[in-house]
Amino acid sequence: MKRVAIFASGSGTNAEKIAGHLAGHPDIEVTLILTNNPKAGIIDRARRGFGPDQRLHVPVLVFDRATFYESNRLVELLQKQEIDLVVLAGFMWLIPETLVQAFPQRMINIHPALLPNYGGKGMYGHFVHEAVVAAGERTSGITIHYVNEHYDEGNIIFQASCDLDPQDTPEDVARKVQVLEHRFYPEIVEKLLITMNNE
Ligand code: GAR
Repeated sequence: MKRVAIFASGSGTNAEKIAGHLAGHPDIEVTLILTNNPKAGIIDRARRGFGPDQRLHVPVLVFDRATFYESNRLVELLQKQEIDLVVLAGFMWLIPETLVQAFPQRMINIHPALLPNYGGKGMYGHFVHEAVVAAGERTSGITIHYVNEHYDEGNIIFQASCDLDPQDTPEDVARKVQVLEHRFYPEIVEKLLITMNNE
């Protein structure tokens, strides 16, 4: 059994899609959801349950900044639970070096634009879509990438793009990008896990 942990800070629609997609999977288990935000939407989504019959219940751990940046507790927990892949799904804090090094090539993120454009510190959520519209871009999309110590700079695993219309607002762009996220992120997570070595 391959084991996944998902980090989410906000609404949690991507985390929900991933957990729903993997619910009942014969070889993959979503073991834990972690959030830095006690008001994160993912907490309610997890309480409702995932999957077509909402029968998958995944424990949610809420942690604070000191635990994340000044202790090794999360690394120890993820290692103890023998997590194979850490998935960031709308997680907004920079990952500390200790956590990156504990999961080399085993931690991935989704970014709501076509990296290397519109990435880096401060480029998240609606700020990305506002910048894309302000620049008059005619395409945007998603990037799924490995995580390193810098925002949005790890090796790219997958990208998909969507066309934008000149009159699209940042909200329109967000909607188009979200369609791509929900369609591809669960599939890519599954594919990475089933092709992962059992070393
Ligand atoms: C997603 O669009 C994700 O790409 C973005 O936050 C949103 C979370 O939505 N992530 C970043 O901007 C990371 N830099 P969700 O909470 O509904 O999954």
